[in-house]
Amino acid sequence: MPFPDFLQHDYPLKHLNTFSIDVRAKHYLRVTSVELLRSALADPQLAAMPRLVLGGGSNLLLTRDFPGLVLHIALEGRDILSGTPSHHHVRAAAGETWHNFVQWTLAQGVGGLENLSLIPGTVGAAPIQNIGAYGAETKEFFLSLTAFDPASGEVRVMDGADCRFAYRDSVFKHEGRGLIILEVSFALPRAWQANLRYAELANAVAQQGLAAPTAQQVADTVIAIRRRKLPDPADIGNAGSFFKNPVVSAEQCAQLLEKFPTLVHHRQPDGSEKLAAGWLIDQCGWKGKSMGAAGVYPKQALVLVNNGGATGAEVQALAAAIQADVAQRYGVALEPEPVFI
Ligand code: EPU
Repeated sequence: MPFPDFLQHDYPLKHLNTFSIDVRAKHYLRVTSVELLRSALADPQLAAMPRLVLGGGSNLLLTRDFPGLVLHIALEGRDILSGTPSHHHVRAAAGETWHNFVQWTLAQGVGGLENLSLIPGTVGAAPIQNIGAYGAETKEFFLSLTAFDPASGEVRVMDGADCRFAYRDSVFKHEGRGLIILEVSFALPRAWQANLRYAELANAVAQQGLAAPTAQQVADTVIAIRRRKLPDPADIGNAGSFFKNPVVSAEQCAQLLEKFPTLVHHRQPDGSEKLAAGWLIDQCGWKGKSMGAAGVYPKQALVLVNNGGATGAEVQALAAAIQADVAQRYGVALEPEPVFI
């Protein structure tokens, strides 16, 4: 049976993943409408294939050619809904670029998402790993989303409880793995207040002499910090933090502090302690080091980079070597943040 003519074959993915790994998809579809998605998955051949749903490609490590169907979500659109007396409600289609969406909300006079400025990727990917930075997480502003369920062919509406958000985690990384997010809505308090809980951000705002910063000024400050510390994927391939910050028990943290008094740790509401993976990796001497074409970014040890022509396997080998060192020295297991394909 021939493939539907809207499909492309042997399609290069290098420019569709921020690590710039040069692999290809056996079949590729740019999903510009829900109808197109529905008709693709109604084709029995396509429905039976391994499937990769791709947004901005900023949280995955492609280790080889993809043997099935890549669904590149390119759904567009964003609007402000009527909201409630206390909250603005804003909505965007899954394929919108996250940062552009944040900037757009600020331009509409709707604050709230500014701490999440310049995070790579799309709106649809934001709930999957509950993106977070500078003292804010998606889940705090999340209202609901719609997702296409390929198993039933139905569109589901999911609220925050359905999504089971946790640190860099959600139901979409577990039982909800097959769901395809179509659009996401956020609730942002009309009574906006700057969130300066993250010390580095508060200091940077204070240094500019901004006693009462606007949401746009907070966004600009976050952008400046990120530009200083994180590589731009347009210049150097990377997927942001390569490891999650590990969470350990209070006891384990206390034992580590006896041996390593400068250990960076943050107490969590449940009494556990979150360690800084970047600090652990840095202390093991990995900052700026390379293995083949894969390297550790010199300004932030948590970020692995493609120094040019790296394969997914090279990045994986570097990650494994770092994990082994950190486990040996600190007895702490580092868990990768990107999904390995
Ligand atoms: N640190 C080092 N050496 C390094 C990197 C960090 O000693 O090479 C120390 C810093 O001095 C600091 C601590 O580690 O005391 C934490 O560093 P930072 O504030 O840079 O944040 P992070 O924990 O390394 C997390 C997120 C980032 C997010 C920043 C800001 C994770 C896995 N990463 O990084 O998220 O931008 O906080 O909120 O939670 C991403 O997920 O892709 C990402 C970039």
